[in-house]
Amino acid sequence: MAGGAGPAGGFQDEGRASITRRSEDRGAFKTPTLREVARTAPYMHDGSLATLEDVVDFYDRGGNRNAFLDPELHALGLTAPEKQALLAFLRSLSGTTLR
Ligand code: HEM
Repeated sequence: MAGGAGPAGGFQDEGRASITRRSEDRGAFKTPTLREVARTAPYMHDGSLATLEDVVDFYDRGGNRNAFLDPELHALGLTAPEKQALLAFLRSLSGTTLR
């Protein structure tokens, strides 16, 4: 699952900790580029989120809870227009190739 936390709060994927063996790296993944993100579904390291709407909902609920989640990540309480604005922003990051 996105963020590495499974349904029971355990990790299906240790992320960076599988290399560093540091507990604070459990569930940590490289921050990807958002360039062309509207064309690159599914999302997250495991493809567990099918659409950009799913990604915005994921962040709105503060990600998947786990013991190693940064305390700065929390539920956002976004309104429907705020979610639409975020989606419009994410879709604006795709372009056309110059000849
Ligand atoms: C509402 C705010 C945010 C939005 C709309 C957003 C959007 C996204 C999207 C669309 C992806 C999927 C990219 C892909 O799979 O190609 C993603 C992944 C990711 N984002 Fe964010 N992001 C937000 C906040 C953050 C914050 C605050 C952090 C870190 C402090 C962060 C770190 C990451 C990381 C590490 C991934 C990869 C996760 C994985 O591979 O499982 N994002 N984000």
